[in-house]
Amino acid sequence: MRWFEKIYQWLFRSLANQILVTYLLVIAFSLSIVTFWALSKIKSESITDLRNSLEVDAVRLALEIDNDLVLDSAQATNRIKQAVDRHAMRLGLAMTVVNNDGHVLADSGPKELKEGENIANQPEISDALAGIAAFYTRRSSGTHSDWLYVAYPVRSAGETNGVIRVGFPLTEINQRLNRDLIIFVEIICGTLILTVLTSIWLAKRVTKPISNMSEMAKNIAISGDISGFVPVVRQDEIGELGLSFNQMIGRLREEERLRQEFIANASHELKTPTMAIGSVVEALQAGAAEDPELRKQFLKSLENLVDRQSSLLKDLLDITRIHGQSVEWKEDLNLADLIGEAIEQVRAQAGKKQIGIKFVPMTELVLLSGNNIQLQRAIVNLLTNALNYSQADGMITIQAKSVESDRVEVSIQDTGSGIDSADLPHIFERFYRGDKARTRTGGGTGLGLAITREIIARHHGVIDVESTLGKGSTFYLRLPAKIISLKASE
Ligand SMILES: Nc1ncnc2c1ncn2[C@@H]1O[C@H](COP(=O)(O)OP(=O)(O)OP(=O)(O)O)[C@@H](O)[C@H]1O
Ligand SMILES: [Mg+2]
Repeated sequence: MRWFEKIYQWLFRSLANQILVTYLLVIAFSLSIVTFWALSKIKSESITDLRNSLEVDAVRLALEIDNDLVLDSAQATNRIKQAVDRHAMRLGLAMTVVNNDGHVLADSGPKELKEGENIANQPEISDALAGIAAFYTRRSSGTHSDWLYVAYPVRSAGETNGVIRVGFPLTEINQRLNRDLIIFVEIICGTLILTVLTSIWLAKRVTKPISNMSEMAKNIAISGDISGFVPVVRQDEIGELGLSFNQMIGRLREEERLRQEFIANASHELKTPTMAIGSVVEALQAGAAEDPELRKQFLKSLENLVDRQSSLLKDLLDITRIHGQSVEWKEDLNLADLIGEAIEQVRAQAGKKQIGIKFVPMTELVLLSGNNIQLQRAIVNLLTNALNYSQADGMITIQAKSVESDRVEVSIQDTGSGIDSADLPHIFERFYRGDKARTRTGGGTGLGLAITREIIARHHGVIDVESTLGKGSTFYLRLPAKIISLKASE
């Protein structure tokens, strides 16, 4: 069974071979059926034509000898013999005439029957003696080919007086069928060769780009090399696959670029406070620790730096989602409570800066599903920004209302500096800071909004902003929610 296994492997290891074999089988099968059908049609029609012409010959002879058949005399039989020989010779047929009991009166050959021999038992003769014109195809005794026999009853006054049998060899028809068969076989072979060639060409066209892509995918998997693209020259499904493949590579490259950028930014951000900590420690070692006032001041700034460092680390962990690996997901978190708690967290900071916070009372009970801490964090981030980028005596207004039957919109509006339209498209990017100088002194790292957007996305929501420079900004959070109208439930 080794050869069988070899064929099996050859077939199923390659798409091209499968296409080829399928084509060959389908074409060979359908052409064979067509050939078979056509040849049998040709044969049956040729036999029908021959039968009709033999019948006409029989009728012609019958018209000549019908009187003599009734007479039953030696002269009459002689006349019948002469007529049979004449007709048979002229037409090249085998003709036999029998009387009404099946005895031979005249026969033209090819293997001459004896006069008076009874052939009533031959099927076409017995049918014709019974009054039915009959035809049979069979091997004639003494020759090596099939013959068609037509037997015609000669009748008068309702009686069968005798039978005329006309026979003709089928050799010619068979030869013609053989010639036709050869032509059909030639057509089948030609088509199969053409099929092999076209399917090899087609299979190459189809499988080449696919194997290119699979080669490239293998490379990416093994070495992570995403430097190349696959060539796309086709516009069909394979071309589309190539395009998608290239888009995927493009996406991978972009991800890689962002990752590198993130690492560079993160290490830069971590390096700055670390170096500052180093220099404070150095100053303390150099003698600053001796002076109690100076020591206190340095320790305070050390504390600030460490705080900043740990909050930055927390942000980094958050944004890389390490922190959020096993977040607790709860149903029915009350949005009003969530906003209230977030406000409490920034209350002291707002007091210090003399900025007012107003939470417009809600007319609906809005329930969210998600993580309490993360959602609070998102709102706190927005409130902190509003505080950070507002002057004293500013005002922050928070409002929450349903926008659809199952969606709530939370808006956080401030009367602060506003955002430059050039910065606006970038503020949600990691490490992006608008006014670099000011935010740096304010301690911002540009991660706040990126984290907020991440959290909102995790909760299947979107974040948006509207801002006018010098007048203030409004951030919008839209989240899926269960909305219960308070008026209706009262
Ligand atoms: N309410 C606001 N008013 C004006 N500018 C804002 C406001 N919120 C955000 N911005 C601008 O968008 C930038 C990005 O904000 P983001 O919160 O991401 O970073 P950050 O506040 O600078 O630092 P942190 O990581 O500490 O939050 C800010 O640097 C600021 O320029
Ligand atoms: Mg911020």
